[in-house]
Amino acid sequence: MSDAPRISAHSIPAPEASERMRAQATASYEARPEEVNRVLLLYSGGLDTSVMLKWIQDEYKAEVVTLTVNLGQPGEDYTEVEDKARMLGAVDTHVIDAREEFAQDFVLPAIKANAIYGLHYPLFTALGRPLIAKLAVDVARQTGCDTIAHGCTGKGNDQVRIEATVATLAPELKIIAPVRTWAMGRDEEIAYAREHGIPVKGGTDSAPYSIDDNLWGRSSEGKWIEDLAHAPEDDVFQLVTRPEEAPDEAEIVQVTFEAGVPVAFNGERLGLVALLERAAAAGIKHGVGIVDHIEDRIVGLKVRDIYEVPAAEIILTAHAELEKLVGTIHQNQFKPQLDRQWAYLVYAGLWWEPLRSDLDAYMESVSERVTGTIGIKLYKGSARVVTRESPNAVYDAQLATFSESGGLFSQTASPGFIELWSLQSRLAWRLRNEEKGE
Ligand code: ARG
Repeated sequence: MSDAPRISAHSIPAPEASERMRAQATASYEARPEEVNRVLLLYSGGLDTSVMLKWIQDEYKAEVVTLTVNLGQPGEDYTEVEDKARMLGAVDTHVIDAREEFAQDFVLPAIKANAIYGLHYPLFTALGRPLIAKLAVDVARQTGCDTIAHGCTGKGNDQVRIEATVATLAPELKIIAPVRTWAMGRDEEIAYAREHGIPVKGGTDSAPYSIDDNLWGRSSEGKWIEDLAHAPEDDVFQLVTRPEEAPDEAEIVQVTFEAGVPVAFNGERLGLVALLERAAAAGIKHGVGIVDHIEDRIVGLKVRDIYEVPAAEIILTAHAELEKLVGTIHQNQFKPQLDRQWAYLVYAGLWWEPLRSDLDAYMESVSERVTGTIGIKLYKGSARVVTRESPNAVYDAQLATFSESGGLFSQTASPGFIELWSLQSRLAWRLRNEEKGE
């Protein structure tokens, strides 16, 4: 054994620990208390960020500017959120309606990439975070803030997405994430809120689900959802009608695309935001887009999430079907690999990674021919493709019929094809069987 001094975690005196954590940053972009004078807080109006608004003023003796971003979360009252921020001492408050930018620059590329992570998650939160963080950078610069604060915990993907964005776009800005360090549980936060005159919405006895939503979907986490053996309780579905309660009549909706862009819903031409809202409304009515899945987070954890993604379910199903119709077998075998890589990068918080724009260039090239209309039947939770139309379909009805022969497709030529197509596999099979027989 060497005589080098042994350092044990237990030798650090407990009372100093939190002081140390605040004073010694782990990452270069983490703010030291003395660097924090004016903070841009990403403010939702909920308990965490409301407590944070006060806490930052107290702990850092800093001014707080708030930013609330509208990405199409249903039923949000932004005037109320701004009033609350001012009431809690914000020196300046901002609300940005970013629905159009979100739809065009984030959701649309995701549609072209058929973006789904881990088989079920259409990335609504993952797509929103880089935009929210980018807007935070813009507003922080405009309002002379030195630091950006957010309400993400240290266990999730959202901290990765927000901090990676800020560190990429604005290396001069510092970041604080109070929830990671303040060591308050929900009860302590409520006590803090009471003490500081922060209004607490809803009942305080039972914790609510942890919700995040925008026009592309909604997630619920926490409470019984963490118990993997617990089937969903009805009250978690606040967006989509439960399939059991959906109408007995099925409905067929038509989604029309031009060059990969959804342009009409049921034959009516609509802007992208309005179209996504219409698709969501149809899905909501028919119980479409409910996901209950386990997710491999970027920070190592497996977590169960309940998602409600009515618009994504309809639009992604239609897009993937149309893309398959206009692509060749080779394109259709290849693109899902790139789609998966795209979704993984975005899930993992690397929106600004150049590989994503490289992949987008490929998506754009394929999208040139993704024009046509897909009909989808919605019925009690399911969304099933029932009709397809495209001027670019690599499809010839005459060739596809069973009985016809001749022209471009000679059935008598098929045996020759099969003989050559299976040649290597047959030789390999024979070799292996001979070896076994020896
Ligand atoms: N699990 C999803 C993701 O990592 C959703 C996260 C929802 N975020 C939230 N703060 N509730 O993207």
